[in-house]
Amino acid sequence: MRARTSDIEKAVGVLRAGGLVALPTETVYGLGANAEDPAAVSRIFQVKGRPASHPLIVHINGAECLDDWVQEVPATARLLAERFWPGPLTLVLRRGRRVPLEATGGLETVAVRVPDHPVALALLSAFGGGVTAPSANRFGSVSPTTADDVRAEIGEAVDFVLEGGPCEVGVESTIVDATAEIPTILRPGGVTREDLEAVLGCPLAAPATSHIRVPGQHPSHYAPRARVVLVEPEKVVAEAELAQELGHRVGVFLPAAFADAEVKAHAVVAVPGSMAAYARRLYGFLRELDQQACDLIVASLPVEEGLGLAIANRLRRAAGPRTTT
Ligand code: TXA
Ligand code: MG
Repeated sequence: MRARTSDIEKAVGVLRAGGLVALPTETVYGLGANAEDPAAVSRIFQVKGRPASHPLIVHINGAECLDDWVQEVPATARLLAERFWPGPLTLVLRRGRRVPLEATGGLETVAVRVPDHPVALALLSAFGGGVTAPSANRFGSVSPTTADDVRAEIGEAVDFVLEGGPCEVGVESTIVDATAEIPTILRPGGVTREDLEAVLGCPLAAPATSHIRVPGQHPSHYAPRARVVLVEPEKVVAEAELAQELGHRVGVFLPAAFADAEVKAHAVVAVPGSMAAYARRLYGFLRELDQQACDLIVASLPVEEGLGLAIANRLRRAAGPRTTT
């Protein structure tokens, strides 16, 4: 889906004036500001209700602009940028002078990516600078994958919402710390570990969900309002029916292998068998079950390979202890 030229011009005007633009990317919608405008960047934190120490991603127009934003690009980082950009891969590198500390949460490293969405790329090209954008949701809640989700989350607080249709990938970018010779994955996402390893020719460590490595990797991120309970796939139906009998309004993520099962629950979501389709719909499913006022969601983890790794990471976090009260 392409943007109207008038919409891109309007969005560029908002960014130049220090305002906030919600923009589509291939992963999730972002809440964007001019990366070089510290006051605009600070507004992002206010709108999201996000701690100022929690670093943002700078979105740029192409791999060839990378050197404008970081201090040095190790050969492995260059290789990954050339191979995966535009695409759902974020590289953490040493911060260039153009990037204000407001955008990095005070860190001397910066996260950078080139989004693979025609509307985002049209905006970045017309704007000419970098756009820092976290996911366009309130801190700790589920990321938006449609423009309507953005309006429901923070519509009144953004100056302009760019339409871009539903996000193709549906989970956030893979974040790779590329400051060292052997990169590490900080957050699994749209580019799989297998794809990274194939390009690098060496194994990569998968991140441990329980280990808070950087500000913002809180266990309860990506949480719907309903409490999420994870069980083995073959126990999903029985667990859901028991909770429903006990008086909960239960939403069920019915695993594809049990698609024919009858479930006595308040709402049932049929989990797609393909991991790409599941990732694309994951946040939409969580939102739908919230809208249906479920207070408990029973789900199981997919096999943790390919995109299943990112899906399992988000489900674990959705099920994790809530940090907000
Ligand atoms: O797909 C995505 O990555 C989406 C779209 C909008 O691009 N953005 C996104 O942003 O997910 P956000 O802010 O929700 O998550 C970015 C994460 C932060 O939680 C933080 O953990 C990590 O990126 N991050 C940012 N800068 C970092 C840095 N310098 N070092 C380590 N981690 C960093
Ligand atoms: Mg986010």
